[in-house]
Amino acid sequence: MVRLMQQADVSAVVKIENLVQSHPWTYKQFQESVDSYLSTVIEKNGQVVGFCILQAVVDEANLLLMAIDPDFQGQGLGYELLDQSVQMLKNNPVHIFLEVRESNKAAIALYEKAHFHQIDLRKNYYPNTDGTREHAIIMVKSCSDDFASLFS
Ligand SMILES: CC(C)(COP(=O)(O)OP(=O)(O)OC[C@H]1O[C@@H](n2cnc3c(N)ncnc32)[C@H](O)[C@@H]1OP(=O)(O)O)[C@@H](O)C(=O)NCCC(=O)NCCS
Repeated sequence: MVRLMQQADVSAVVKIENLVQSHPWTYKQFQESVDSYLSTVIEKNGQVVGFCILQAVVDEANLLLMAIDPDFQGQGLGYELLDQSVQMLKNNPVHIFLEVRESNKAAIALYEKAHFHQIDLRKNYYPNTDGTREHAIIMVKSCSDDFASLFS
């Protein structure tokens, strides 16, 4: 089940974020995202196992962050979360943008399945833990008028 993130979910969300990100968002950033962005979670058997944060800007949107708990990856939950979160956007965006590490093949494959495609490469955008940097792939999804069928 996908639903809006609440303040009470932030601890569980931070735990997942810390498991999957080398430069994780802070507790405070997630607290603020509940009010500032379209922040959603996905539950399995009543447990929060993933989250997604979308920023609506006029007639566009940015996918800022998403993750699924490693114990629950590969079960279709990431796709379900992204699909339903995009449908919850109220501004009917013309385009949805995102940035992703070039090495993050799982995320890139998920986004391509959800009809995002690469439009640019931002060189040396992300810091690595060893002091080197990694390119960001910029992807966009063009939304049709038939918003409900974006993922069909
Ligand atoms: C990216 C992520 C959200 C995918 O979530 P998930 O629940 O495992 O993904 P799903 O099971 O819904 O898979 C959907 C599609 O993504 C792709 N995919 C998912 N995991 C993959 C993997 N390990 N390798 C290649 N493709 C993969 C596939 O195309 C898959 O479709 P298919 O099952 O029909 O082949 C998850 O791996 C994750 O949380 N990663 C760490 C955080 C992260 O990188 N977030 C994104 C950048 S902010």
